[in-house]
This record gives sequence, C-alpha cells and structure tokens, in this order.
Amino acid sequence: MKTYEELIELALEARLMAYTPYSHFKVGAALMTKDGKVYKGCNIENASYTPTNCAERTAFFKAISEGETEFSAIAIVGGFEDKKELDFCSPCGVCRQVIREFCEDDFKIILLTGQKDGKNTYEIYDLPEILPFSFGPNDMRIKPKSK
Ligand code: THU
Repeated sequence: MKTYEELIELALEARLMAYTPYSHFKVGAALMTKDGKVYKGCNIENASYTPTNCAERTAFFKAISEGETEFSAIAIVGGFEDKKELDFCSPCGVCRQVIREFCEDDFKIILLTGQKDGKNTYEIYDLPEILPFSFGPNDMRIKPKSK
C-alpha cells in the first residue's frame, strides 16, 4: 500500500508524460486499487480537441481494462508546463462521473495544494464532497415495480 505522499510522487511522475501541444496544461494522476496496485495516467490531447482524455480517466481506463474493480484513492497534480509551481487541479465534471461509476463513497481524492519546505502539501476529499447528489450505477439497478 502506498502512502498519499508516495501517490502524489507517482502522479508527478505521470505528469511528465502528458501530451499537451494545445493547452500546455499538464496533468498527472496515480490511481490506487484496494490491494495497493497503482495505475498512472496523464492527459492526452488531440488536434480535434474533443477526443482529449484527462489524466484521471487515462488512469481509470488503464486499470479497468486490466481487470481492476476496486479502488481506494487517486492523487491528481496539474499545472502549466512553463510554470515552476503547480496549480491546484481538481477533477473535471466528466472525470468525477467516471469516478462515481467505479468507486464507493469512501474513495479518496488527493489534490496537490503546493510545496512547503521541499515537501508536497495536499488536501483529501471523498467522493460525495466533490460530487454531491450524484447519479451512479445503483440508480440504474432494476427495481421491483410498485403496485
Ligand atoms: N485536464 C485533466 O487532465 N484533468 C483535470 O482534472 C482537468 C483538466 C486536462 C484536459 C486538458 O488536456 C487540459 O487539462 C486543459 O483543460
């Protein structure tokens, strides 16, 4: 199992691979499964813009396509490529909905907030905090018809 500090480091590593010729905004994510495996992801842009994939979804789709089903946390870091200090980067609405699809309410979202004395600082959120009143897989379960 990785600590949240280690997960942030892996997200920073993932960010180095971001393909961002259009926005120049590079994002990295590190997604941890409940048994401690980590899948990294970066954003991947496209000349046609809309096919762009966020770092978070890259990490999820890698993990899901390898058969993973249970997740405990994701660390997310982002910022413009030419800036020394990273921005606070919180997941977009589409990524939040993808997280909802595959994660329970206790799933943790770790967001880098800055650096102090050479150490990364971060905030921890759970899913209902960043996606309240969500619509998820449970809402699509077939329910018995009421009379
Ligand atoms: N982006 C992410 O990868 N994750 C986020 O949480 C926010 C936005 C990407 C998409 C696009 O490549 C660039 O950042 C600017 O929106």
